Amino acid sequence: MKFSTAAVAAATTFIGQAAAVSMAELKQLKMADWAVQKEAGAFDVDRYSALAAGTPCVNGKAGDYKCNKVDLVSFLRHQDMGSSTRQGNDVWGWTSSTGREFGAVGQTDGTAFIEILKNGTAVYLGRLPTQTSSSSWRDMKVIGDFIYIGSEASNHGLQVFDMKKLLTITTPKVFSTSSDLTARFTGFGNSHNIVASPASNTIMAVGTGSSAGCRGGLYMVDVSNPASPKKSGCLSAGGYVHDAQCVIYTGPDSKYKGREICFNFNEDTLDITDVTNKASPVTISSTGYTGASYTHQGWLVDEEMRFLLLDDELDEQNKKGPAANQHTTTYIVDVTNLAKPLFTGTYQSPAVAIDHNQYVVNGLSYQANYGSGLRIVDVRSLKTDPTGNGIREVGYFDCYPEDDATNGKAEFTGTWSSYPYFASGYILLNSIERGIFVLKYTG
Ligand SMILES: *[C@@H]1O[C@H](CO)[C@@H](O)[C@H](O)[C@H]1NC(C)=O
Repeated sequence: MKFSTAAVAAATTFIGQAAAVSMAELKQLKMADWAVQKEAGAFDVDRYSALAAGTPCVNGKAGDYKCNKVDLVSFLRHQDMGSSTRQGNDVWGWTSSTGREFGAVGQTDGTAFIEILKNGTAVYLGRLPTQTSSSSWRDMKVIGDFIYIGSEASNHGLQVFDMKKLLTITTPKVFSTSSDLTARFTGFGNSHNIVASPASNTIMAVGTGSSAGCRGGLYMVDVSNPASPKKSGCLSAGGYVHDAQCVIYTGPDSKYKGREICFNFNEDTLDITDVTNKASPVTISSTGYTGASYTHQGWLVDEEMRFLLLDDELDEQNKKGPAANQHTTTYIVDVTNLAKPLFTGTYQSPAVAIDHNQYVVNGLSYQANYGSGLRIVDVRSLKTDPTGNGIREVGYFDCYPEDDATNGKAEFTGTWSSYPYFASGYILLNSIERGIFVLKYTG
């Protein structure tokens, strides 16, 4: 949080405050990295080869890519998915009522749609262009059969698209940003990220611009009727939120059982908020930590909701706190008491890289760590050892060979995000430079 209020001050520690940078500064850092990349041809047409066939991970390599227990099943370049900028960002997935699996692949100039066939082959189906201009930031989440897409592009708003339109596609289609949308919500223009809280049919846009009036905090939109999204509330007390996970709480803190709780990653703190009443959300705690540089994202670890993993996006590059050696550092938080979360330890990756998004499924954290790719980390030991000493990497796929010679670099290149929720076990990995990878963990 960048702004303290009397209401939350009592429950707040400010260890990280002085160290953190603002989103504006972080965006500049990334854009500088990508400008150098662009100059060097990283986004040029035909810079990367199409993949002729799936390549299993054997003896630490799947074709050009370093790996361990993760097979490269299929791959499509950004240029093969209709992008003319050929630069990727976020990714999400959708499963139809009959079990067909689809991916939404973010690119600076739009969202490409793919189907992942039973044998793992990715098929390009078409794309929804950006609503306004191109932007490096495009983010999407799915609730039910609808996808909600936001972007940092000026005046973009929220695109609402019915994924069922993909069920009958036989040749790739460029969808219309007017007639093919179920709705377009314009209560905000640009946003940095989109959070979904399916249980309450709420989309939370975060990092919205000043005209949206939420100070970049949770801008909550009721999407019970996807054709008619309505603003339901705003959390501005903690200032800018970069990302969040919102759940109907079933954890150990009895005071909040059944409430809708958001864990917000607020640039230099973890903020925990009760958003049950959208019209007046309540901040329960705001907690900093040693090494805080840019508190970016995180995810609950266990069904019991006792532990949470948090990633800081700038501690590696800035060599701060536990990330001084630049190995990707994940912070472990005991959230048993929502009013007093405890930072109990850290986990460090064997590789040097910055961390971005991670999602925990069945005790495995799927970390998208920029230059070191997808890292699959077994975190089940947290139940008995909250220090993180028992955490082990169990598989990886490194989609960015350019930095392999130095065991990685703390730069904003390579992976943006992954989607590890398909019942088939296929994992999508969206690379900034190359395209979409379909992977399979074999451990
Ligand atoms: C995957 O399945 C599709 C559809 O049945 C088929 O056309 C394709 O050749 C298969 N690919 C591989 C690598 O087996």
